Amino acid sequence: MRREPLRGDRVVLRPLEHEHLPRCVSWFNDPEVTRFLARETPLTMEQEERWYKDYRAKVDEEIYAIEVEGRHIGNIGLHSIDRTNRKANVGIVIGEKECWSKGFGGDAMRTALRYAFGTVGLHKVNLDVIEYNARALHMYEKCGFVREGVRRDELLKRERYVNLIRMSILEGEFARVERERLVSPAARRQAGTGTSRPR
Ligand SMILES: CC(C)(COP(=O)(O)OP(=O)(O)OC[C@H]1O[C@@H](n2cnc3c(N)ncnc32)[C@H](O)[C@@H]1OP(=O)(O)O)[C@@H](O)C(=O)NCCC(=O)NCCS
Repeated sequence: MRREPLRGDRVVLRPLEHEHLPRCVSWFNDPEVTRFLARETPLTMEQEERWYKDYRAKVDEEIYAIEVEGRHIGNIGLHSIDRTNRKANVGIVIGEKECWSKGFGGDAMRTALRYAFGTVGLHKVNLDVIEYNARALHMYEKCGFVREGVRRDELLKRERYVNLIRMSILEGEFARVERERLVSPAARRQAGTGTSRPR
């Protein structure tokens, strides 16, 4: 199915195409990036192309390239989309490290959640995060995700078992966070509808 790009405040989420793959391969071979991901082993372009061919045939997975002013800086995806129970998992990576902590990940996540709860019609979105990934935890909580529990020793990362934090957000929770964001002074300023002058 042909999908349209999703527009955030600063990012555009464009359906992942073959042209995006070489950049994905370089990110998934960067230890500073994979430190925060479930995957660790080296990845070749051939493996990525095989994965992409399988991905194109799937109906329960949608991956988007995160673009900022036309530059591909990362990916975000809905995985295991379950239309019966109206739930999915979300995963995000910003592979261009100088783009970390500039608000792009949060914008991409909110854009993906608007799509997931709006267009796809989901009720719940889940994710797992390695417990030492403080930046991701902060961003997810700011987007409205709540902690469900700990999956103990779930991954073997560089010869050490690590816990995963299971988080989720429900459609009503996201709607509340969006409403609160829209009425906050910072959000009004960002949208160009606020005033910086004192009354
Ligand atoms: C996690 C990731 C997606 C977040 O995207 P991002 O664009 O860097 O995040 P944002 O800038 O939108 O938000 C990060 C927030 O965390 C804060 N932060 C940064 N470093 C932090 C730290 N060490 N501890 C706590 N908070 C931190 C930032 O100040 C910002 O908060 P603010 O909006 O209140 O100022 C991105 O950094 C990334 O892809 N990292 C590598 C791969 C990864 O971790 N993927 C997620 C796997 S679960």
